[in-house]
Order: sequence, then C-alpha cells, then structure tokens
Amino acid sequence: MEKRDKIYEGKAKIVYNTDDPDLVIQYFKDDATAFNAAKKGTVVNKGIMNNKISTKLFEFLMKEGIETHFVKQLSDREMLIKKVEIVPVEVIIRNRAAGSLCRMLGLEEGMKLKSTVLEFCFKRDDLNDPLINETHIKALSLATEEEIATIKEYTLRINVLMTKFFASLKLELIDFKLEFGRYKGKIILADEISPDTCRLWEVGTGKKLDKDRFRHDLGNIEEAYQEVLSRVEK
Ligand code: C5P
Repeated sequence: MEKRDKIYEGKAKIVYNTDDPDLVIQYFKDDATAFNAAKKGTVVNKGIMNNKISTKLFEFLMKEGIETHFVKQLSDREMLIKKVEIVPVEVIIRNRAAGSLCRMLGLEEGMKLKSTVLEFCFKRDDLNDPLINETHIKALSLATEEEIATIKEYTLRINVLMTKFFASLKLELIDFKLEFGRYKGKIILADEISPDTCRLWEVGTGKKLDKDRFRHDLGNIEEAYQEVLSRVEK
C-alpha cells in the first residue's frame, strides 16, 4: 500500500490517497479543539490512543454486522479505510443529558433521559454545526429519505451495541456522535469512535473519561484516554 497526496485535513485527522482508488489512509493527530475550535490545544499521544480505540470499536461493530469504512490499522497513527463520500450530517445519540443539550434545554448534567434522543447537525464549521431535522436534510438534499432511514436504524443499533460493550468495561456511554459515508451505493459508518466523539463516565465514580476533560480543563486528559484504551483492549 503506497501513501500518496493529502486530500483533506480536519481538526483531528488527515486523510491521504493511496495507490488504490477505493482506499485512503486516515491519520490521527494529537490536536484537540472544542467549542468549534474556539479552544485549541494538543493532547500528548491522543492520535495514537484514538486510532487504537477506534480500531477496537470498528472491529467490534463489524463483528456485530455493522458495515464500516474500517479496513485495518496500519501503524500507531494510521488506519486504512474505504474512500467514502461523507454525508454532511452528524448524528448524535444521547442517553443522559450533557453538553449542548443541557445548554439548549436548561437541563441538569447527568439527567437520565426517559428515552433515547437522536439529533442531526449540519456538518458546517462556519455555521457551528447547527442542529437540523429530517425536513432540513431532505429540503437541502443532504441525504435521501432512504439514506436517513438507514442512518437512523444503524445509529440506534450502534447505541444498543456500544452501551452494552462499554457497560461491560464499567463505562457508561452518555452520548456520542457518528458520521456516515456513501461507498459503492451503500451507507456505511465512517469517521472515528473515540473519547473525542463519545462521553464516557466511569460506573460508580462518575469520573469523566473523555474530551470534556479538555473542554473544561479538568486535567489528566492523557490518563483518561489511556484508561479507556486499556479497558477496550482487555
Ligand atoms: O457538544 P454536544 O453535547 O452536542 O456533543 C454531544 C456528543 O457528540 C459528545 O459526545 C461530543 O463529544 C460529540 N460531538 C462530536 N463532534 C461534534 C459535536 C459533538 O464528536 N462536532
């Protein structure tokens, strides 16, 4: 596999072409941003830890029948993935109230939600990824009705699978964000799944083991990501 030119650089990852037109390399950086890049920093070895954690989670989900862009881990910071066209919609699942949901609805952090909340956000940094609904997605042709149905079904299944998976590691999955892509006419799971994209609280202590440690200057960020990695590698 030959690594070719850089095709995209985001806040936490870089994507490179390869000599295979169907495959690209996803490189995980240590850069961290929060509040839509209003806060910037680096977390030592975050890229290495997120690459490993994402690998474990993609492998787990694929074993459970979820189609993803993951092909294999190539090195500490690199993952070989299928080249998808990203659907410009972020999908968020919430099992407890935290983050922007608390700010938007005036809820207390940690409030158990009576049922699962599924949100869509328009993937547009310049607009701060605004909350949208299915009618916006259809009206702006961001995805077809059939694609939205698939994305919702996958996301809800992934929530059930990941909630159980993390519970077995004594971690509670509070909320998370997913991105999907189009590959050869199909919708598949893309991007990454890591403490950058999930809120994970230690069962019993409620200790935050995710990017909220960076967002709110709680300290011990590297240790928190390392703790998640150690548990998923068990
Ligand atoms: O900030 P908010 O409460 O909306 O985030 C909900 C969940 O989605 C969190 O787990 C957060 O890490 C994730 N998220 C993300 N990327 C974004 C927005 C949210 O990974 N652009």
